[in-house]
Amino acid sequence: MHVPVLAGPAITWLRVREDGVYVDCTAGAGGHAVLIAERLITGRLIALDRDPVAVKMAAEQLAPYGCATVLRRNYANLAAVLAELGVPEVQGVLLDAGVSTMQLDDAARGFSLEKDGPLDMRMDPTQGPTAAEFLATTDEERLARVLKQYGDLKRPRRIASAIIGRCREGRLETTRDLFEAVHAALPFVRGVPEETRLVFQAIRIAVNEELRWLESTLVQAIDRLAPGGRLVAISFHSGEDRLVKNAMRDAARVRREFRPDGRIASETPPRLRLLTPKPIRPTSEEIRMNPRARSAKLRAAERLAIPEAAP
Ligand SMILES: C[S@@+](CC[C@H](N)C(=O)[O-])C[C@H]1O[C@@H](n2cnc3c(N)ncnc32)[C@H](O)[C@@H]1O
Repeated sequence: MHVPVLAGPAITWLRVREDGVYVDCTAGAGGHAVLIAERLITGRLIALDRDPVAVKMAAEQLAPYGCATVLRRNYANLAAVLAELGVPEVQGVLLDAGVSTMQLDDAARGFSLEKDGPLDMRMDPTQGPTAAEFLATTDEERLARVLKQYGDLKRPRRIASAIIGRCREGRLETTRDLFEAVHAALPFVRGVPEETRLVFQAIRIAVNEELRWLESTLVQAIDRLAPGGRLVAISFHSGEDRLVKNAMRDAARVRREFRPDGRIASETPPRLRLLTPKPIRPTSEEIRMNPRARSAKLRAAERLAIPEAAP
């Protein structure tokens, strides 16, 4: 059974109102979405996912709830989706970023480092290059940057060189091939090293352009929140968490524009109130039950009412 990560804190911080409109940007297997839907009476839930398998699964889970609309969309289209549905503002947005257990467990999707499958890794299998195609058109330097930025890897050049070398020999078509390339680069590490998991994570983030979409969606989510509405975001690695933290912190600041002489030209009041100055982490009990939760961080913020402009 699918266990949503940080489910209790996510629902508590969203503070679901029975008549509110909520968006679950990452429906996945519908775990968080069902918890929201079952709290709604006259409210509405809009659940998005870019993965057709997830959309099918979430639609099945949400079928008993008349309040739910499930759509196969990249969450970066949040503002457009709300406009299409005639929803001007919402009471809450949930983002549970990254990859799902469902995606990781299906060898045919190419996310798994334990099971062999085609080197695909696309969340939406109709969009963009596969991981194998991405690696075939990437040079060592760019791949090393990807490994460093999205995987925090300590030996990115060495690993990138092994992967690109193997790719040029035409031996990089499956997840097993990638696994072996990383092992060849790190012969002194035994077993399934953490490094291999981080290499898979970094390539997956690049293939799906995950940070690009996340950054744009955070801005749209903050824009669409009604006063008192809440944004709850769960991230799984430092790059995601940095984007969430910065987007919330920037919106929680007074913004000032200055004239050339240093005087203040305009002042925009904060749009958000931070609810979690420090991220919420899973308990050791949750990590024991669901090891995937171990790197999760949840941040929440509330939209402030915008004061009337002075006449
Ligand atoms: C961690 S899982 C969500 C699990 C879900 N909260 C649950 O309880 O089942 C992340 C999901 O986000 C989806 N996803 C990632 N990036 C996306 C994007 N840009 N647009 C829409 N969905 C995205 C993935 O396909 C995956 O199903």
